[in-house]
Amino acid sequence: MEQRPFGNTGVWVSQLGLGAGELGDRALPDGQAADTLAAVLDAGMTLLDTARGYGESEARIGRFLGPRRKDVVLSTKVGYQVEGRRDWSYAAVALGIDESLRRLQTDWLDIVHLHSCDLETLRRGEAIRALLDARQAGKLRVAAYSGENEALAWAVASGHFQSFQCSVSLCDQRALATLVPQIEAQGGGLLAKRPVANAPWRFDERPYGTYGEEYWYRWHTMARTGDLDPRGLSWQELAVRFVAHLPGVPGAIIGLTQPAHAAENAAYAARGPLPADHVAAIRAAFQQHDEDWLGLT
Ligand SMILES: NC(=O)c1ccc[n+]([C@@H]2O[C@H](COP(=O)([O-])OP(=O)(O)OC[C@H]3O[C@@H](n4cnc5c(N)ncnc54)[C@H](OP(=O)(O)O)[C@@H]3O)[C@@H](O)[C@H]2O)c1
Repeated sequence: MEQRPFGNTGVWVSQLGLGAGELGDRALPDGQAADTLAAVLDAGMTLLDTARGYGESEARIGRFLGPRRKDVVLSTKVGYQVEGRRDWSYAAVALGIDESLRRLQTDWLDIVHLHSCDLETLRRGEAIRALLDARQAGKLRVAAYSGENEALAWAVASGHFQSFQCSVSLCDQRALATLVPQIEAQGGGLLAKRPVANAPWRFDERPYGTYGEEYWYRWHTMARTGDLDPRGLSWQELAVRFVAHLPGVPGAIIGLTQPAHAAENAAYAARGPLPADHVAAIRAAFQQHDEDWLGLT
């Protein structure tokens, strides 16, 4: 697994990491969560991305890591759900960070994001100040913003953040046009979230009412016309190789709960970049069908 510099933050990340949202699901047995984390590390992924809002995720990662903490890059997200504190207040961010340190059983966090706060909240400045103060205090190494579209554009232009997290996949390419090059030019880190678009090819029929429905619609729209063409690869391989080798995208965090998926995705990434003309065709397919396909949170 390639290790790459995370912008000019001084942190290095593995090209694929784990999006550990689903690992926080209380319905998922502890053993399966631990097996998934073990499979992720075995496959060479040393980047683990979690959040305060992901149920048991932070605590499970903390319990699992123990002495392996120093071998991984821990990324989390904060800003809300602190008892007695207004969401996005200075205290909600500051106490959220302290709580993440405790749950993850660590003395420092590598990357901490403000988790999808809106433009108005960013402009108020209070949440940003709390994040930067925590960095100054040595609690975290990289101050980051996770979000989309207008708010992401503001965050990138603000100069307050050293790295970003946004949706990038076959089905979510808007950020690639301007924001990704802008982040790269300013030396920022970037994590692609939802990088396999929730693997919509698993569903024969549109999965109405689910989290992945919009991506299924986008994928189906591009694929049924043949404009998005895997050229003999499986859709999963196409998705992984597309996102794992995009310029300006050092790390992509794939969500998984089945341990076998970790090695499978790592093997796809190791096959290297797609041919340049295939990447161009994937970009063209998105642009051709983009019906106001904004970045999805
Ligand atoms: N910052 C934010 O606001 C934000 C928002 C959304 C998501 N995220 C992060 O990104 C993570 C993933 O989000 P996502 O689920 O929308 O997107 P995703 O990573 O594009 O898709 C994850 C899905 O892909 C499946 N999958 C992975 N590898 C596979 C393989 N080799 N073959 C078949 N299926 C495979 C997983 O299935 P199995 O579970 O069966 O392995 C899982 O259901 C979340 O957990 C979270 O950590 C962050």
